[in-house]
Amino acid sequence: MRLRDSAQGYGIVSRTLHWSMALLLVLQLTTAALHLLAGESAAAKTVWPLHFQIGFTLWWLVLLRGTWALANYRNRPPHEGSPLQARAATAGHLALYALMVVVPTLALLRAAGRGSGVRLYGIQWLPEGTPEVPALTAAGNLLHGTFGWVLASLVVGHVAFALWHGLVRRDGTLSRMWRGR
Ligand code: HEM
Repeated sequence: MRLRDSAQGYGIVSRTLHWSMALLLVLQLTTAALHLLAGESAAAKTVWPLHFQIGFTLWWLVLLRGTWALANYRNRPPHEGSPLQARAATAGHLALYALMVVVPTLALLRAAGRGSGVRLYGIQWLPEGTPEVPALTAAGNLLHGTFGWVLASLVVGHVAFALWHGLVRRDGTLSRMWRGR
């Protein structure tokens, strides 16, 4: 089993990071949709606390994944399709990475500046009852939700293109991320 990526496919580290983040993102967006559409329901109130924990997990996972992607940059499989399609795929992936970093970062900064404490993984990182710091909360208040939905639509596009590669073009793109070759 290969750890690192190669021109033929992704190694086990990249694939584990990819599929665990995919699962967590689906869960995360489900909690956000429930919050938006049925915020007062028992289901939404039960799962909403998970939004903070999963969001924090996605945040450090994407930092790890970005670092690993950079370390493997030169030995990753090339994109399939015409040069224009390959460039579009690179741009789409960069936008996904950027939003996967920005969306939770905005929320974490807002949580840190809110003054109501930060408790993650059962650890109290910041105490409750401190004054709000608007410089930390303003950007999150303005952009976290909207950017979160932009990220959701990019994820839908990403899945659609992956299925097109796998089911219509049958060019091995999906298999390189699923089976590693
Ligand atoms: C990749 C990670 C994340 C994604 C994709 C995401 C996505 C979203 C989305 C789409 C909404 C809008 C829900 C609505 O329209 O009602 C939202 C709201 C919210 N999120 Fe996140 N979130 C993430 C991480 C976090 C983290 C780490 C925290 C806390 C530290 C957090 C706290 C909140 C809060 C308090 C709201 C409600 C207020 C608002 O809409 O800004 N989120 N999130």
